[in-house]
Amino acid sequence: MSINILNSSKSEVKDAESLRQLQYIEKAKEKVAALEKKLGRKLTACTVTFGCQMNARDSEKLLATLKLVGYEEATTENADFVIYNTCTVRDNADQRLFGRLGQCSSFKRQNPYMKVAVCGCMMQEQSAVDKIKKSYSFVDLIFGTHNIYKFAELLDTCLESDRMIIDIWKETDKIVEDLPVLRKYPFKSGVNISFGCNNFCTYCIVPYVRGRERSRSPKEIIRECEKLAQDGVREVMLLGQNVNSYGNDFKEGDPDKISFAELLEEVCAVEGLRRVRFMTPHPKDFSDELLDVIERNPKIARHIHLPLQAGNDEILRRMNRRYTKESYLKLAEKIRKRLPDVAITTDIIVGFPGETKEAVDDTIDVVRKVSFDNAFTFIYSKRAGTPAASFEDQVPEEVVKENFDRLLKVVQETARSQAAKLSGRTETVLVEGVNDHDDSLLTGRMSNNTLVHFPGDKKLIGEFVDVRLDECHGFYYMGTLA
Ligand code: 5AD
Ligand code: SF4
Repeated sequence: MSINILNSSKSEVKDAESLRQLQYIEKAKEKVAALEKKLGRKLTACTVTFGCQMNARDSEKLLATLKLVGYEEATTENADFVIYNTCTVRDNADQRLFGRLGQCSSFKRQNPYMKVAVCGCMMQEQSAVDKIKKSYSFVDLIFGTHNIYKFAELLDTCLESDRMIIDIWKETDKIVEDLPVLRKYPFKSGVNISFGCNNFCTYCIVPYVRGRERSRSPKEIIRECEKLAQDGVREVMLLGQNVNSYGNDFKEGDPDKISFAELLEEVCAVEGLRRVRFMTPHPKDFSDELLDVIERNPKIARHIHLPLQAGNDEILRRMNRRYTKESYLKLAEKIRKRLPDVAITTDIIVGFPGETKEAVDDTIDVVRKVSFDNAFTFIYSKRAGTPAASFEDQVPEEVVKENFDRLLKVVQETARSQAAKLSGRTETVLVEGVNDHDDSLLTGRMSNNTLVHFPGDKKLIGEFVDVRLDECHGFYYMGTLA
């Protein structure tokens, strides 16, 4: 993995809080150096990330701080500092964390100098913190989503303390710019454009754990994109829980107040960037202006992830999604007409309270009509504190399972038939790396997000190349350099 440090030079740091954190990095560095001397070896650190791309981006920031402090990156949790960046969107993510923490305790027993930290969305829930305090008392540091920017300070405190440190904020209006970031890939990067969510879909915990929507200033976003481009990044993904409500939190008259479509166009104008992605738009906020911008900017990836969640009007109303089956279908049709090469992917939840077999038929009908290029299907997971958790008509597990299987079958059909359409075409791909299973092959990603594997030289990693799509294997292609 190749890693670059971004925004870490003191002279470029404007934000007072970032400066304070850089001072803590210096302090923690001394502590790490002293411990290294004592143990006669380098210290190692490992980040374990659950959940979405926002968390992946946050982990890049955590790793940057750990490296600046002097830790070497370890790929296993048998390390001197392990940090779990948690997700709580569904219950299985919670369960996975506790499994991993269980394993981690044995490493900690063997290494008295080991520190274990847990952060992220799940830590914004009191019950999760209580469980760690009670059953995983070896954990040294717990913090949440709102104060991740002060990780350097928390790390420094943790290095000098033997007690469990817990620092969780209920909310924040802060956006701290200019924290160090270590990118996983030298050629592509996520860029946060907003934090939090105001939508309150009734099943979703995100607005409670990530807080209200806060958009970053467009100047800061463009500045970050420019720096990334100068640094060799060719593809960016603009990240937010609801990217197309970007800027709605700016006051009228604020010169920063621009729409997501305008922001996207400005990002496309950044010299050196060749491809721009975004994740995730909400169907209710998908404007014609946004479609216009995508249509006239070939740099914008031909991939729109447009979460459907459900295709039945009553379920959509109870989910508080604020669109109907018909309006979603109209939007998808418009997108397909205006952007014939686009891949539309989606998220669907099965088993939301009150969901009947007929309601699932409506969802399946939308899947067929839109012909999704891919869909992530989730079983509804009851999240404490959300409105849907107290809805009475929770669906029995067997019914959910049956509906889930029916839906999955259709999703796979449409995805396969959409992928097959590309056969024989030549597509420009960004070469992302060597194939996981066969190192004579490279893996590239097309504009529409489909992967293609083809023989090629490792030197092409990070480059855009044209590849002929020879053979469709369900969801991916085997190809040859054109
Ligand atoms: N249960 C199941 N799936 C959920 N998602 C969000 N909350 C829940 C939940 N409580 C899914 C949605 C969302 C994706 C990121 O996770 O489909 O789009
Ligand atoms: Fe959750 Fe809905 Fe916000 Fe997405 S838009 S993060 S599903 S509340």
